[in-house]
Amino acid sequence: MIDSLNISVKKTSASRIGQLDFANIPFGKIYADHLFTASYIDGGWKTPEIVPYEDLRISPASPALHYGISVFEGLKAYKNDQGEVLVFRPDKNFERMNVSAERMCMPLIPEQLYFDGLNTLLDIDRDWVPSAQGTSLYIRPFLFSDDDYIGIRPSQNFRFMIITCPVGAYYAKPVKVKIETHYTRAAEGGSGFCKTGCNYGPAIYPAKLAQEKGYDQLLWTDGKEHRYIEESGTMNVMFIIDGKLITPSLGDSILDGITRDSVMALASDWGMDVEERKVEVNEVMSAIKEGRVSEVFGVGTAATIAQIELIGHEGTDYELPAVETREFSNKVLKVLDDIKYGRIEDKFGWMHTV
Ligand code: COI
Repeated sequence: MIDSLNISVKKTSASRIGQLDFANIPFGKIYADHLFTASYIDGGWKTPEIVPYEDLRISPASPALHYGISVFEGLKAYKNDQGEVLVFRPDKNFERMNVSAERMCMPLIPEQLYFDGLNTLLDIDRDWVPSAQGTSLYIRPFLFSDDDYIGIRPSQNFRFMIITCPVGAYYAKPVKVKIETHYTRAAEGGSGFCKTGCNYGPAIYPAKLAQEKGYDQLLWTDGKEHRYIEESGTMNVMFIIDGKLITPSLGDSILDGITRDSVMALASDWGMDVEERKVEVNEVMSAIKEGRVSEVFGVGTAATIAQIELIGHEGTDYELPAVETREFSNKVLKVLDDIKYGRIEDKFGWMHTV
């Protein structure tokens, strides 16, 4: 139960928006003026408030810091030509956040708390939503343990917060990926399907090793046999092989991506064959060698549609078809952008106006 549906609002007296160069927005470095916060104490949600963006006070014994008791989401708001603020599929992020929360023994976030917090925050900081093509306001809701207890047990106190930051591209150019066959991101029975820090932190070291060899990212494989392709860690992955859209099916170890779902919905709507199934590394490598792979790309909120130009496997690099020749991914990027910026009819009802 929420104490009160009234969100207390304390606005900043010194907006920082003048410091933002709208023509040159980096990813994830500059935060909008306000944040939303609500606490879960004694079994209930209390004191939803919006305050000027500020550093947190947190117990040094918080299980969020020691055991990764924390989950998060990523979604984006766009500005259309009329200056309205549109959010892409916030209902899906809300559902997924609660799936993650349940897996991490955290309380579910009530729908009203999530949406009232999001809408009020975006309304207050609407000037921070950029309008140029390729830019958006990245929204980061997160929930973490606010206990001060050093033992291992389900936590009792939590904080739910939302921060936002104007962003440009996450990957500024096509990426080179390496198929990882030693390290593991997630395993069956684990938490790979959740957006919890526990899945992201340990993936940085193997990615760093790959970066030292000239790759931008990894293509993770299953933890048992390293035989099946899973995801990329910052995004899901898709292939066009023999004209079909193929992507690894979901499970314990793969994030249920919202861009992934949207791309599949558009492809099906356009009459394409869409296959969601186990994708063997060997199948993809043979198809590349036989010239049957016309496109490989990552899909994610931050990454949007990220073209993959090269795949490294067992010490050999395989160049993929030129990005300009990729009919499906270039079209799907354009159509998704047209929907997000309100330039074409939103026939799937994906956009939520603030
Ligand atoms: C997102 O796509 O929103 C994510 O959370 C991925 C992260 C690497 C920025």
